[in-house]
Amino acid sequence: MSTFDTFLRLTRGVYRRRLSLAANGYLHADPDARLHLPAWREDPYALYDQLRHRGRLSRSRSGAWVTVDHEICREVLRDRRFGARPDRLTVDESLSDDFETSFLGMEPPDHTRLRGAIRSDFDPRAVGRYRDLVERTVDELLRPAERNRRFDLMAGLARPLPLAVMSAVFGIPDDQRAGFHRSAAVLGGAIDGVRTMTQAARLRTATLTLDRLFDDLIARRRRDPGDDLLSRLVTDAAGEVGADELLPLCTLLLVAGFETTTNLIGNTVHALLRHPEQWAAVVAAPGDRAAAAVEETLRYDPPVQRAGREARQDIEIAGRPIRAGEFVVALIGGANRDPAAFPDPDRFDLFRSPATAHLAFGGGIHYCIGHPLARLEATIAVRTLAERLPRLRIDGRTARRSSGMIRGFTRLPLRIAAPPASSP
Ligand code: HEM
Repeated sequence: MSTFDTFLRLTRGVYRRRLSLAANGYLHADPDARLHLPAWREDPYALYDQLRHRGRLSRSRSGAWVTVDHEICREVLRDRRFGARPDRLTVDESLSDDFETSFLGMEPPDHTRLRGAIRSDFDPRAVGRYRDLVERTVDELLRPAERNRRFDLMAGLARPLPLAVMSAVFGIPDDQRAGFHRSAAVLGGAIDGVRTMTQAARLRTATLTLDRLFDDLIARRRRDPGDDLLSRLVTDAAGEVGADELLPLCTLLLVAGFETTTNLIGNTVHALLRHPEQWAAVVAAPGDRAAAAVEETLRYDPPVQRAGREARQDIEIAGRPIRAGEFVVALIGGANRDPAAFPDPDRFDLFRSPATAHLAFGGGIHYCIGHPLARLEATIAVRTLAERLPRLRIDGRTARRSSGMIRGFTRLPLRIAAPPASSP
């Protein structure tokens, strides 16, 4: 199965679910269904509150269980009686067979083997080697912004930075980066569903291009290994990753490492500029406070809003019987605003030191492997913005991604305000 087929099945499922919910007249009666309506894109958190009032775990009319309860979300993500089935974010049975090849949808022992093959490349010590690259890239990307005093954060920094880093992770040669970047952007943009034939055609071209680029790169690294993750995987004598597993693994890492980090950078800058006193606090001590701002954004406005699990056996959660094969949607964005876990949860406050961990990176065996890299990139981006462009402001209309799953901006226009006129 090509990356395109896998991807199209995955994304088509999400879209089909929306259509079937709408067709059944559920949209206005069911908070979970309404999460897919554009009107709630700006602020899904009010809908999460409605769900909270319906109980700790409720049944959506689509048949899935949904929860915004922090304790239940955490439990469901960690409980091995549930399996991760990303394609069952849909309730469409016919779409459920083909994502197993990427390890996000796998179970031990294959999951353990594939995750183990790349784990050491993403631990905090290992990702430290990308620090210089991130600093250099942010520095270069911000030069035109400084000159022009106006820029779109997403196009100017939040998208190109993770792409530059993922190119280094894979050892993508300079002359091929543009192709990888274009294809990854199309895949990332379609993660929530394919809506038109034109989009499907673009996606097909992008995934075929990506498959070809990775195939070429794999062959090149076999002949001429470098100091990168892909070279290590293809020359690994232990053969932890099978030949047919390499392409899905690369695609998963590229898409997971790109779109999410882009939106973490966008969401953090947006939250800070919407709370000028918090931005002023970061500007006053960027080296000390940028990381805290990123961490609070991961709680307050996480880029990944939901994760799905399928019950492998009959299970009772919070007194509700969940039957084997039923699907539970852990609404991470809602869990992170659970007042039982975070006092005054709707307040964005980088000085909070919560006793409970947020769920932005999931939990259990599928806990995000890329979290140290995402934190490194976002922290350096925010720190450098605060150091170099302290008078940053939002400049006009922002535009959001159309998605119930990935939360972020497609456009976040910024300007550098003029300093106040000095008093006479
Ligand atoms: C802000 C940035 C990021 C966020 C919010 C994020 C979020 C998540 C979440 C919620 C999961 C769990 C999904 C589930 O349990 O169903 C996950 C898994 C994963 N993430 Fe991330 N991620 C981010 C960045 C990255 C980066 C930079 C990489 C790689 C370079 C990455 C690679 C992965 C992989 C491979 C998995 C699957 C892990 C497994 O199944 O064992 N992520 N991520």
